[in-house]
Amino acid sequence: MTPPESELAGRVAIITGAGRGIGLAIARNFCEAGATAVIAELDADAGEQAAQALRDEGHDAWARQCDVRSRESVDALVEAVQTRHGCIDILVNNAGMNFVSPTECQPDSDWHLQVDVMLNGVFICTRAVGTVMLRQQSGVILNISSIAGYGAWPLRSAYDAVKAAVISLTENVGCEWARRGVRVVSVAPGVTRTNILQSLVDQGVASLDQYNRRTPMGRVADVEEIASVARFLVSDRASYITATTLAVDGGWVAWDGLPGKAAV
Ligand SMILES: NC(=O)c1ccc[n+]([C@@H]2O[C@H](COP(=O)([O-])OP(=O)(O)OC[C@H]3O[C@@H](n4cnc5c(N)ncnc54)[C@H](O)[C@@H]3O)[C@@H](O)[C@H]2O)c1
Repeated sequence: MTPPESELAGRVAIITGAGRGIGLAIARNFCEAGATAVIAELDADAGEQAAQALRDEGHDAWARQCDVRSRESVDALVEAVQTRHGCIDILVNNAGMNFVSPTECQPDSDWHLQVDVMLNGVFICTRAVGTVMLRQQSGVILNISSIAGYGAWPLRSAYDAVKAAVISLTENVGCEWARRGVRVVSVAPGVTRTNILQSLVDQGVASLDQYNRRTPMGRVADVEEIASVARFLVSDRASYITATTLAVDGGWVAWDGLPGKAAV
């Protein structure tokens, strides 16, 4: 069996929203296994800086400004990657954000932005890259869902609905393409140390201590713990896994209904 440090050698991976956070950790992890990372990022500066940082570490990475909400933007990305590499082996639908507010006063803009980026964007990227992969008769699409997709988490109605829809989309498209060489899988991270978590803590709508206590393992995740599972799922070691979501959550989802369940 190929050693893990070269199991993605020669593969071309597009990771959306990889300018920072979980996406950047996934890009770095894939590069460490020999892949070329294409950082598809709305924030052009963040994308360029991330790609440069990976190149400085000796990896093969480049960035392209891309808005996953736009079919034109995603089509241009796909064309650029094909022109440069001739194939697309991996797509990670990672771009996202998280707004917290009571549903009765949630602004239209917050609802629409979360649905546009984390559901419509996943569809737009899946369709565009999936078309290439179906032609190749090979490829893996990894969607980043969330523990929020498994049940109610008050004050996050749009985020929960979108992440549940991503779990459903993974099952649906995974089954549809299962006999055509394309796997579609998903991970549902627990609370993870990134900008999303920091901004919720800064706004006073979440507490790190509360998240730690709510998690059976007693701590939130580091980005590398999500990235290493992402590498497994896109690798050939996971060749019989499709149309399913794996929780990477320190036991969060399993711990249901006991005292101490998160109140925020
Ligand atoms: N951090 C957590 O606790 C956590 C837990 C579960 C799931 N997730 C999911 O993981 C993913 C990454 O989250 P993160 O915490 O790393 O967030 P982050 O805010 O650190 O990074 C998100 C990235 O997405 C980019 N982005 C936003 N809109 C975009 C668009 N339209 N097109 C392209 N890029 C866009 C941002 O510029 C940013 O670089 C998200 O889908 C999030 O819902 C995060």
